[in-house]
Amino acid sequence: MIFLLLAIIVIQLIIMLWLVVKDEPSPTKAEKISLNNAAQVATFYNETTNKFLEVYGEIIQAFRTNDVSVYLNYTIQNAELKDGQKILDAGCGVGGPACYFASRLNVEIEGITISTVQVEKSKEIIAAKDLKGKVNIQQGDYHRIDKIYGKENFDRILFLESFGHSDNKPLLIEKCFSALKPGGILYIKDLFVREHPNAEDGKKIDRIVDEINKAYCYHVADLHEVLATLRRLNFILLFIKTPEVKTGEFEHLSISNDFQNLFDIAKIISWEDYVFPIDFYEIKVMKPPFDLNEQKYLYFLNRPEVNEK
Ligand SMILES: C[S@@+](CC[C@H](N)C(=O)[O-])C[C@H]1O[C@@H](n2cnc3c(N)ncnc32)[C@H](O)[C@@H]1O
Repeated sequence: MIFLLLAIIVIQLIIMLWLVVKDEPSPTKAEKISLNNAAQVATFYNETTNKFLEVYGEIIQAFRTNDVSVYLNYTIQNAELKDGQKILDAGCGVGGPACYFASRLNVEIEGITISTVQVEKSKEIIAAKDLKGKVNIQQGDYHRIDKIYGKENFDRILFLESFGHSDNKPLLIEKCFSALKPGGILYIKDLFVREHPNAEDGKKIDRIVDEINKAYCYHVADLHEVLATLRRLNFILLFIKTPEVKTGEFEHLSISNDFQNLFDIAKIISWEDYVFPIDFYEIKVMKPPFDLNEQKYLYFLNRPEVNEK
């Protein structure tokens, strides 16, 4: 009798274990390589988030306005965030931007960050806000968003100075394509390596970018690679531009200098040999609203809002 009971318990345990394991899809080879990098980024933010909060506050972005809400309103406008949308904030930090958007719009925002420390902080931040919409933040690797959230789930996917942490941007963009609804928009605001104006400055640019990458666990993006991937996937290019902020309102990246000087992270020792190494761009692309392989006669996008104008 006792053996029968033990056997039943063991079988139940095996079934429970199997149920847990079967729901966790195993990573592909490319995802596994990125997992390694993501673990380093997680350690970086687990160790530095308090420092970022001290200098940057809840919005961890270097390109911003003196009054950061001006920049966030600009983001709402340019990423076309609207009531009723389901939005993914990929690399959401402590949830500052997501909470700002949800305080103005009736949206449902999922935030994903690789850092457990940021998830904990975000809980306090969300609880302290009066939100119109909903914000839900979880720990995870954005290279796996299709598996975490499912396919064709989001109207918008945002990367607000978080995209450059990826060591496999083609894979990441493919995941975004899969997780976006047809007609959904991918919006990336980040830094990109500057084109070499000449060989001498080129060497300096590469050296300084290397220092940024090492200090921030970054892989400053190559615009050529990003564009090639977006176009290969048939994303519809809506715009690429330098963020348009008024000179008087622009913070002139002073916050990143303050941060670097205070904590001795990528501190610029001498300005003599310095060449500005990066460009800030906003990239906005749309997943075609129709299947290009099935509706081959359709070329241009069918955007109701645009067609109405
Ligand atoms: C510079 S912070 C920007 C945070 C936020 N977008 C903001 O504006 O406050 C970069 C963010 O990217 C996240 N990140 C980097 N790599 C990630 C990955 N593989 N998966 C998920 N989040 C990642 C970090 O955890 C961090 O929250």
